[in-house]
Parts: sequence; C-alpha cells; structure tokens
Amino acid sequence: MKGIILHGGHGTRLRPLTHTGPKQLLPIANKPMSEYCLDSIKEAGIDEIAIIIGGVGSNKVKEYYGNGKKFGVNITYIEQDEPRGIAHAISLCKKFVNNEKFLVFLGDNIIQKPITDFVENFKNSDYDATVLLCEVDNPSRFGIADIENKKILKITEKPKNPSSNLAVTGIYLLTPLIFEIIDNLKPSWRNEFEITDALDNLLKQNNNISYETITDYWKDTGTPDDILHANGEIIKKILKRLEKGIEDHIVGEGTIIESNVKINGLVTIGENCHISSGSSIGPNVSVGNNTTIFASSIENSIIMENCKINSTAEIKNSIIANNSEITDNSSGDEKIFLLGEGSKISL
Ligand code: DAU
Repeated sequence: MKGIILHGGHGTRLRPLTHTGPKQLLPIANKPMSEYCLDSIKEAGIDEIAIIIGGVGSNKVKEYYGNGKKFGVNITYIEQDEPRGIAHAISLCKKFVNNEKFLVFLGDNIIQKPITDFVENFKNSDYDATVLLCEVDNPSRFGIADIENKKILKITEKPKNPSSNLAVTGIYLLTPLIFEIIDNLKPSWRNEFEITDALDNLLKQNNNISYETITDYWKDTGTPDDILHANGEIIKKILKRLEKGIEDHIVGEGTIIESNVKINGLVTIGENCHISSGSSIGPNVSVGNNTTIFASSIENSIIMENCKINSTAEIKNSIIANNSEITDNSSGDEKIFLLGEGSKISL
C-alpha cells in the first residue's frame, strides 16, 4: 500500500502563525504536526509516501522531509496549484498510487494509537473504502457519517444540523476506484472538491464502504486551542513512554535550567535553552530550541525556537512563533508592540 499526506492549503484559521509556512509544520511537543502523520503511516508498514504541497512556504516541507531517508521512508512531492479541496489533492496522486490500495492522512490530524490494525483490515478486505470515525462535541465542524445497523447511510460535509456526532476523521483508506468518482465531482458550497462528497457518491453507487471507530485521542488541529490541546496530550504520551528517572518533563541537550525554576509537570524543553531563576513553566508547555526564558511564568503554551521571554506578565494559552521577543519595558508604563498582520494579543 502507498500513503499520501496532505500538506497544502492556506492555513487561514491559524494566521499569523501560517504567514511564513504551512500549518502542518507548526510544532507539537517540539515536532512538526505532520511528522506524527508520517510516523503513523510508517508504523503501519507503509514506506512509499507522497506529500501534497502548495501554498505559503511549501519549500520548507521539502527542506524538512527531504527524500524521506532520514525518516526511514521514500517521499515523492506532488504540487497542488491552489487548495481546490481534499478530493482534488487526492486526484493528483493517480499516477503515484498506480492501482494499489492507499491511505490518505490529512497533515493536520493527530491520532495517538497506531492505525496498523485498520490498515491491515482494509488490506485484507474487499471494501472500496474504509473511513475512521470519531465522536465529537462539535459535529458541524466536520464531515459527518450517519450510521444504521452498522452501515454508513450517508456522509455530509459540515452539516448545519448534524444528525450524528460521528466525525469522519482525516484518515481515509481508499482504492483507485475513488479517482473515477472524483473525476465526476462538482465543487461544493465552499468551492472545493470534497472527499466527503466523493465518499457519499461511492455509497450512492452501492459500493462497499466500511468504518472503524477511534475511541481514544484524535484531533483535527484546526484552531490554536486544538493545537494547545494536542500539545498537552502528546507531551503526556511521550512522558509515559520515557524510562524512570525523568519525572514530568523532558530537557534537550545543552539546556540550562537554573535553580529556583518551578517546572509544573508536562513540559518539554528543546536544546540549548536557558531558563533562569524565578521562572515557572508548565503544565502543558513546550519550548523550542535556543529559547531563553528569564524569570517568567508560562502555562499551556507553545514557545517556538529562538525566542526571548523576559516578562512579569503571565503567559497562558499562547502560541509564540520562532524568533519572537516578549520583554517588559523598563521605562515606565508604555507598552511597545511590533506585531505582524493577523496578530492577536489579549492584555
Ligand atoms: O479533520 C477532519 C476533517 O477534515 C473532516 O471531518 C472533513 O470532512 C474534511 O473536509 C476536513 O475538513 P477541514 O475543513 O478541517 O479541512 P481543511 O481545509 O482544514 O484541510 C484539511 C487538510 O488538508 C489540511 O492539512 C490542509 C490540507 N489541504 C486542504 C485542501 C482543501 C490540502 O492539502 N489541499 C487542499 O486543497
């Protein structure tokens, strides 16, 4: 089987973080979110992977993943000129797929448990597609499946009045039959070729679609809150895996943590950072490489690489991109901001 990771799109909901690169490269526990997809695919025994790229900074994807060797896989890049929809992105992979069954993984979906069993079941079946469903609280944000007697009746993209809370996650097991269906699709209300419409058409043509249910952690990291949530969950998972001796945080090589720093659990700190005395870090915090934190308090946040934080203000529920500085102004009450387009601050 082959694998496809969708790494295109404009990432508009995550601006300004996505002005300089694709959202799928934003770090979760100090690793690009799409690398978790690649890990899941590889773990399922698939090592031929196409990455769909397009939009701002797509060269950064190539720079990071290269030919895939470093990650133990073979990577082919396929360019999408505009984000015309998930089904459109998949249709670009016809040659790459070459008549095999294949797996599609949206690069902004995070799942905790291995997908190996789902992949094996599909490989050994005669299903035309298998979708992975997960119960959600906000079904109108997702593709939704209606189920009766363990059969999928209908799949609808972001229904206004959802009739079920079973989201179709961004992990799809498909056969080349889907290409014919996509060829006959019409754009949706949001002017995209929807994979959900393609799947629904497969159903309407009496094809055989099965589903599997994800009962543990799955997240579509569509919003900053989703990213912060996934960050906390992934840190928890990594820490669980670590051997005894390291209690509740991970610290990279060359990082200095001075005495009198409070680490409040579930923290991952990169390499060559400096956390100075009087700081309080965590829970749910990741700090990227080469970042300096002076006597500051940070909770439920992602601070990326090469940042300088030196402030008495408490930093909470925040995502701070590479090379940012937050400092107190020593000359009076004046506040000085240098904020890029789409920045959000809440004082
Ligand atoms: O996460 C699950 C949901 O993903 C499903 O429940 C929905 O049915 C499905 O449509 C999708 O919904 P989103 O609105 O969240 O999709 P989004 O536009 O965020 O795109 C998903 C990923 O695919 C994202 O990593 C960007 C990438 N993408 C998207 C489009 C539209 C591309 O690479 N090319 C594209 O043309």
